[in-house]
Amino acid sequence: MEKNEENKRVIFLSGKKVVLRPVCKETDLDSIYRWINDPEVNRYVEGYLPMTKEAEAEWIDRVSKNKDIVLAIETLEGRHIGSMGLHKIKWKDRTATTGAMIGEKDHWGKGYGTDAKMILLNYAFNTLNLRKISSSVFSFNKRSLAYSLKCGYKVEGVLNRQRFVNGRYYDEVLLGVFKKDWQPLWREYKKGLR
Ligand SMILES: CC(C)(COP(=O)(O)OP(=O)(O)OC[C@H]1O[C@@H](n2cnc3c(N)ncnc32)[C@H](O)[C@@H]1OP(=O)(O)O)[C@@H](O)C(=O)NCCC(=O)NCCS
Repeated sequence: MEKNEENKRVIFLSGKKVVLRPVCKETDLDSIYRWINDPEVNRYVEGYLPMTKEAEAEWIDRVSKNKDIVLAIETLEGRHIGSMGLHKIKWKDRTATTGAMIGEKDHWGKGYGTDAKMILLNYAFNTLNLRKISSSVFSFNKRSLAYSLKCGYKVEGVLNRQRFVNGRYYDEVLLGVFKKDWQPLWREYKKGLR
């Protein structure tokens, strides 16, 4: 990235391999629209119906109205590769859920998700003062399960044969991470941060 562009860059959270910034409907919509309609991507997430660009734009508006926190994931070089967010924030219980989608498939399994999740958890725990973050993973999504466990999540339960994907039923694995269990991981992780 040119120095001039670097100066103009929006950076909300900064990691080792990625930065997270607010979603910008104008520039991000085309990619999100492509990713969510890609069966190799959407088999891992909630969406399975065809999404129009208009519906996707409404989703972006709705999450911000709901006060969900959705951030775009960009590589350090400035490539927009996915989104990650905090949803269902409960201020009384100090809990939230996370959702993630790296839509650029050539970027899977290269540590971008782990980096994004660690800096998002730092924001959740040390800025928003949340205490527990939950997530759930379809049992065939070994990559998502692995990166969640790396970030300190623990398996809290299994919903047997809960999800129907590509013609068969799969378990849904329920995960949760408490701040106190994530903190030792963060102490190590943050050593390498810029
Ligand atoms: C899930 C997702 C966010 C993870 O991000 P990522 O950048 O691909 O993950 P990372 O590279 O940081 O970590 C993945 C880990 O899983 C491991 N992994 C990959 N494939 C695996 C497999 N088949 N079995 C076991 N582990 C596997 C990797 O080795 C890596 O661990 P390591 O760093 O210790 O080697 C991303 O892959 C994605 O968005 N996938 C599509 C949508 C999706 O699944 N969303 C989440 C829904 S719950």
